[in-house]
Amino acid sequence: MRSADLPAVIRIEQLAFSSPWPLEAFDDAILQDAWVICSAEDLLGYIMYHNVLDESMIINFAIDPAFRNQGHGTALLKETLDIMVAKGIRTFYLDVRASNATARKIYRGFGFEDIGVRKHYYSLPDEDAIVMAKHIKETA
Ligand SMILES: CC(C)(COP(=O)(O)OP(=O)(O)OC[C@H]1O[C@@H](n2cnc3c(N)ncnc32)[C@H](O)[C@@H]1OP(=O)(O)O)[C@@H](O)C(=O)NCCC(=O)NCCS
Repeated sequence: MRSADLPAVIRIEQLAFSSPWPLEAFDDAILQDAWVICSAEDLLGYIMYHNVLDESMIINFAIDPAFRNQGHGTALLKETLDIMVAKGIRTFYLDVRASNATARKIYRGFGFEDIGVRKHYYSLPDEDAIVMAKHIKETA
């Protein structure tokens, strides 16, 4: 993700979430571990990670509603998880709305497991967050 991508990213953010990030959250610092998926014409979606040592939190992930259910979310997650593992990340975390069956199914498919609940974490509407984690097994 580059600065020039931000207008398209922010448009998708506002379509994808009932409580979108405020514009000022999309500053240059966020671009370090953030990726977009694009066709020849369009920016289709994005994913953002926040890394601390060998741990990473997926902090934002969305596909344009017009391009969902075509495998783009799965492809973006797969490719970027591989990049993060190559960078030395060994544990991934994320929060997801309890009702977000599509996202939870995708994450489970990548080996994420439910490890906890944050009660009333989300607003608009009020909802619990499921905390999910994925540990990378050392092969050496
Ligand atoms: C979650 C999200 C990013 C998934 O993106 P996506 O591009 O639609 O995801 P995929 O197409 O890879 O997978 C979605 C579904 O299509 C299926 N699928 C995956 N690859 C597929 C393919 N090649 N062809 C057809 N279907 C496919 C998946 O199994 C999944 O099944 P489901 O319909 O039973 O849920 C998207 O729904 C989104 O932006 N949601 C709103 C924001 C959000 O919830 N973000 C996550 C916050 S934690």
